[in-house]
Amino acid sequence: SGHPMTDWPRLIRDTPDFPSPGVLFKDIMPVLADAEAFAAAIDALAAPWRDARLDAVLAIESRGFLLGAPLAQALGVGLVPLRKPGKLPGAVVEQRYALEYGEDRLQMQAGILPAGARVLLVDDVLATGGTLLAARTLAQRLGLDVVGAGVLLEIVALAGRARWGTDLPLRAACMV
Ligand code: PRP
Ligand code: MG
Repeated sequence: SGHPMTDWPRLIRDTPDFPSPGVLFKDIMPVLADAEAFAAAIDALAAPWRDARLDAVLAIESRGFLLGAPLAQALGVGLVPLRKPGKLPGAVVEQRYALEYGEDRLQMQAGILPAGARVLLVDDVLATGGTLLAARTLAQRLGLDVVGAGVLLEIVALAGRARWGTDLPLRAACMV
């Protein structure tokens, strides 16, 4: 495949004017499309948390799912999805969050993990941080012990890390 394992961030592709004019989209799909790069990226995501005594990974719909499932397997822990509204059966808890225009919501099944479970949030990209912060609030409202968060890519200029704060660790496998 020709990509040394350490080179996987080079496969993240800049796509100008997507999804709207003036936005420079960071496309992680070429990383996932390459077997070696995908494996190396999951290794990098997992590395900070190997001794964290986690119970589960909480993966954020939808691109967070692509990383959360292999990450949970790599860490030997369970996987719980945080989903867009109306997708999960049974009792759910919902968290609203603001977008640049409008708002979105995430839901989690209420009884899927016991209170006090040690969980890691995972998503593909940290941009403004709104999504990850909503996920954290949702997990904490369910009584979960949020150990930290992991993302494949942090877009430093959008300052999501400042919004996340310094109380809990946030680890990015790569930064631009
Ligand atoms: C993107 C990305 C992160 C989030 C980051 O998801 O996958 O989840 O935005 O942005 P933020 O830090 O400013 O909140 P999006 O909601 O576009 O949808 P998708 O994952 O379903 O593609
Ligand atoms: Mg997303």
